[in-house]
Amino acid sequence: MKKYTAINDIENLSDTIQKAIQLKKNPYQCTHIGQHKTLVMLFFNASLRTRLSTEKAAKNLGMQVSVLNVTNAWNMEFEDGAVMNLNTSEHIKEAAKVISQYADIIAVRAFPTLEDKEKDRAETVLNSFVKYATVPIVNMESATDHPLQALADAITITETKTVAKPKVVLSWAPHPKALPHSVANAFIHLMHRMEVDFVITHPKGYELDPEITKQFPIEYDQQKAFENADFIYAKNWSSFNDYGNILNEDPNWMITQEKIGAAKFMHCLPIRRNVVAEDAVLDGDNALVIEQANNRTFAAQIVLQEILTHL
Ligand code: CP
Repeated sequence: MKKYTAINDIENLSDTIQKAIQLKKNPYQCTHIGQHKTLVMLFFNASLRTRLSTEKAAKNLGMQVSVLNVTNAWNMEFEDGAVMNLNTSEHIKEAAKVISQYADIIAVRAFPTLEDKEKDRAETVLNSFVKYATVPIVNMESATDHPLQALADAITITETKTVAKPKVVLSWAPHPKALPHSVANAFIHLMHRMEVDFVITHPKGYELDPEITKQFPIEYDQQKAFENADFIYAKNWSSFNDYGNILNEDPNWMITQEKIGAAKFMHCLPIRRNVVAEDAVLDGDNALVIEQANNRTFAAQIVLQEILTHL
């Protein structure tokens, strides 16, 4: 693997999931592979899980880790040909090449603006690092994608499914803040690669990018979508068509224990209790959210290991 910016950078997904499950059994089986190698993690936005799990994964492989909260560094310029006489002090052309002097792998987190749809869809920050860095890039959640989360979710579903082809439902849920589409998009990209019966449910107006969803059914009746579900993945996202806006916060879309029945419950976290899902769901035996967070380490570890192998 030369980079990991999308789930499709993984050639053989089922093989990669099995390797991650093996790593989970013995996380220190390859501590030599990252010796004298450095991972630099750049955070343009906050993180709890991604930061700690990716650092842990790198250290399990024997890597050194440097973490930079980019908001504490120079304001970066991404526009080619920009006259930098305003607030930006460092151009991505230098920044990416300079960081590449200190890093063997660069991991980047950069959320969308949720204001400029075309800029977000162009993945300006992530793709600029891919373009100008001279070392491999890992996506730690970008404007439109979160492939490390998706790989952890793939591991979790594989470990807990009880039928060969489970029914998986992605459900929009209410939230007081406008949130990105990245986790939902990443999960849908993943569903293309797994043996599942997949349905998306959300209120009208919350359609995601049709280029991403076009092969899957959309059911506007949440309860109907949940019938016979094995896994229910809840996530809020803001409107894609009315870009970045909240159209409604209908509390009837909150995930309740009564609605999900025996289905397993998934969410990437952080989650707003009793807004996105009620306490009974999160505290119940069918909640997989902590195991999803645990699997973030092994998703990151197998990705870093595959990249290190090809350096
Ligand atoms: N799920 C996830 O990416 O969590 P963080 O934002 O805390 O990294």
